[in-house]
Amino acid sequence: MAAVTADQTTQGTAGTTDDADAERLAAFDAAVAADDRIEPRDWMPDAYRASLIRQMAQHAHSEIIGMQPEANWITRAPSLRRKAILMAKVQDEAGHGLYLYSAAETLGASREELLDKLHAGRQRYSSIFNYPTLTWADVGAIGWLVDGAAITNQVPLCRCSYGPYARAMVRVCKEESFHQRQGYELLLALSRGTPAQHEMAQDAVNRWWWPSLMMFGPPDDSSAHSAQSMAWKIKRHSNDELRRRFVDICVPQAEALGLTLPDPDIRWNEELGQHDYGAIDWTEFQEVLKGNGPCNEQRLTQRRTAHEEGAWVRDAAAAYAEKHAARPGSAGAAAQPVEATA
Ligand SMILES: [Fe+2]
Ligand SMILES: [Fe+2]
Repeated sequence: MAAVTADQTTQGTAGTTDDADAERLAAFDAAVAADDRIEPRDWMPDAYRASLIRQMAQHAHSEIIGMQPEANWITRAPSLRRKAILMAKVQDEAGHGLYLYSAAETLGASREELLDKLHAGRQRYSSIFNYPTLTWADVGAIGWLVDGAAITNQVPLCRCSYGPYARAMVRVCKEESFHQRQGYELLLALSRGTPAQHEMAQDAVNRWWWPSLMMFGPPDDSSAHSAQSMAWKIKRHSNDELRRRFVDICVPQAEALGLTLPDPDIRWNEELGQHDYGAIDWTEFQEVLKGNGPCNEQRLTQRRTAHEEGAWVRDAAAAYAEKHAARPGSAGAAAQPVEATA
């Protein structure tokens, strides 16, 4: 979309007329309606920008906080192959965080500002990462269910109306798909292993199933941001719609794994052509959101410590970039200094 750029009209400054505002809004609405992409230099309503920053920040934070529960098992992976896979996956999640912080920067929110808000508890990350990884099978259950739920959520985001977010999602989804498969393959090996290994896999699925369903957010009738996000085509499907889709995907996969989903109410609904499932405990979800989950405090403390201990790396990268940019004739002389904030 390039109908009205921020260069031509500056949003929110004194002197803009109601007519001009209405014109810009009409151009924005028309672009969204036509499925055009909104790009960083395009005019956009303040509320659209704020909503995207909120969602992208929460997404970026989830990627980097999500590294913790799995990194917990890197040193104890049962083979070199499993260790290499897990390390690659955890590194991917760091990369996802970086793409998303960069995408949020195109909206005027610096990485430093977003990280400060995360560390101060003023912005959220996905509640799923406040659960502990108690056994090796949890690495499999996270890959299969948590990354699987993330893919179900994120594939439609590849068509999100905001260009940089949509483009970041294309690569993220390809990598999430590898994450989901490695988790599935890990669980399959355990499920077909000794009775103790099978039991470990089942126990992990029992613990991760319900929190994974909660990853899609509250039911549609109590979701604060859903309707507006869908009107702006940031979101393409409702929370309940995506949750149902996820259940439909998981039921045959659980059968193939030889594992049981811990919900006696799951059954095929012939009329809807979808599975029905049991009631979700939304009180638990709210408690975890409020900070009372099993690992909320541990996750944030570890994140703050990592940030503080990494300060020297950021300082060194910034000093290097500055030195490089100042060197006459070097490639860096023409480049922008790197703003290393994370
Ligand atoms: Fe990710
Ligand atoms: Fe992932």
